[in-house]
Amino acid sequence: MSIHSEVKRVTTHTLAEMKEAGEKISMLTAYDYTMARLLDSAGVDVLLVGDSASNVMAGHETTLPITLDQMIYHASAVVRAVQRALVVVDLPFGSYQGNSKEALQSTVRIMKEAGAHAVKLEGGKEVVESIVRILTAGVPVMGHLGLTPQSIYKFGTYSVRAREEAEAERLMEDAHALQEAGCFALVLEKIPSALASKVASAVQIPVIGIGAGSGVDGQVLVMHDMLGLTSDFSPRFLRRYLQLDQAIRDAVAHYVRDVRSGDFPSPSEQY
Ligand code: KIV
Repeated sequence: MSIHSEVKRVTTHTLAEMKEAGEKISMLTAYDYTMARLLDSAGVDVLLVGDSASNVMAGHETTLPITLDQMIYHASAVVRAVQRALVVVDLPFGSYQGNSKEALQSTVRIMKEAGAHAVKLEGGKEVVESIVRILTAGVPVMGHLGLTPQSIYKFGTYSVRAREEAEAERLMEDAHALQEAGCFALVLEKIPSALASKVASAVQIPVIGIGAGSGVDGQVLVMHDMLGLTSDFSPRFLRRYLQLDQAIRDAVAHYVRDVRSGDFPSPSEQY
């Protein structure tokens, strides 16, 4: 028996059981085969092929430009790498807001062409019809409330959301609406921790936070940020576990020196 056949896959049911048991869920973004393989083997529960690929992989200022084809390209590489984690793929901007039929068509492409396990989309009550339609095809849906980067031009800033009571109440209503529509989990991005804890206690589905404090059921970070590849981005919520940008610069500078000096390749590094 191969070692891989012994690995128990994480499913949406696993996440529900984890919430029930009070076990925290770990989620990270991934966009390519090599990194996804490392993250999966390190034990992360959920890999999100986020539309943040638009920023960290393609260098765009916002998440809006990334296309469905590009998301499918990233997602299929991640799916090929993964043995254990649940792979959730973002529906990119413009691929689901038109109507629920379009949302389903985009989802079907992601499931068929990339082999994803679930999709995520941003928004509250306004996307409920799409969520219900996607669920009729048997595809699990993760919601996303709070700071929703696809609406950056509506909000104008990436600052903390739902500080005001009216917006906090709307967010709580949206969380209930997404649960009732059938979402298996919910991401809450950049909202006050007290509100995030309240939402996590009020709904039965797992709530995964980014910049939403410790009172939720799990945490998600963008891989490039937590590995220290994006040192120009330092929000308060971000914990860096490595300073990979400097390590890479040092390694590459060393290589350049060795090539220039003739030290590389050495006699044992040639045929
Ligand atoms: O696209 C993304 O990386 C995300 C996370 C920030 C949750 O949606």
